Amino acid sequence: MLAPDQKSADADAIAAVDHAITSRRSVRAFLPDPVDEETIGDILRVASRAPSGTNMQPWKVYVTAGETKRRMGEAILSSGIRAEKADWDEYKYYPDSFFEPYLSRRRAVGYALYGLLGIGRREVDRMRAQHDRNFVFFDAPVGMIFTVDRRLNKGSWIDHGMFLQSIMVAARARGLHTCPQAAFAPYHRFIRPILGIPEEEVVVCGMALGYEDTSKPENRLRTERAPLEEWAAFFR
Ligand SMILES: Cc1cc2nc3c(=O)[nH]c(=O)nc-3n(C[C@H](O)[C@H](O)[C@H](O)COP(=O)(O)O)c2cc1C
Repeated sequence: MLAPDQKSADADAIAAVDHAITSRRSVRAFLPDPVDEETIGDILRVASRAPSGTNMQPWKVYVTAGETKRRMGEAILSSGIRAEKADWDEYKYYPDSFFEPYLSRRRAVGYALYGLLGIGRREVDRMRAQHDRNFVFFDAPVGMIFTVDRRLNKGSWIDHGMFLQSIMVAARARGLHTCPQAAFAPYHRFIRPILGIPEEEVVVCGMALGYEDTSKPENRLRTERAPLEEWAAFFR
């Protein structure tokens, strides 16, 4: 039996952890307010408590702000290589063709985001412009690039994902928001020389980190989740 005070402490812990997890969402417009390096270091240190097979800790992160962050965006945007032509030569995040139920879910989030921005279904140029906002990290003051050693296997990518989620949750606990960004992966060639990323590292994704601009319509997006019964099986 828990003593009454332990019980209430537990309820607080549940509320705090659940809030950090459920209030995480992909924010796509940030305020210019900086995030100090100590806070970023704290978040990354906490997130590095993520588990990994045989404690290999198969992650690396390049944290950028200011000029370096700007140069990455410029290199990608001036490359003239449009997202739909970009080559996912290092790893494929998405399947070659979508199928159900993934196709509908993917469409739903796209339509919802463009709907909030008033972008019509045929306004391809405006869709591209919105996608290009990835490369300025949606104006976040901090842009991170994550890599994994290419000699490692799928298991290490599982570990990497847990590290990413831990960063996003630790950021929420500190009032910060994030957006994970696979959009950077097919542009790794433009990022490598700027950050000195060696060839043995695969660029997994980027991540924007900062304070949410609550005045922006794109941040009103709230995504759905399929009900538990659709993807969990209980055997009694
Ligand atoms: C690894 C990863 C990569 C993602 N890449 C992008 C991206 O490049 N650009 C973007 O706007 N959103 C990106 N997202 C965000 C997803 O669209 C988002 O997580 C999903 O729609 C669910 O919404 P929520 O994060 O607000 O809960 C990415 C998410 C993950 C986990």
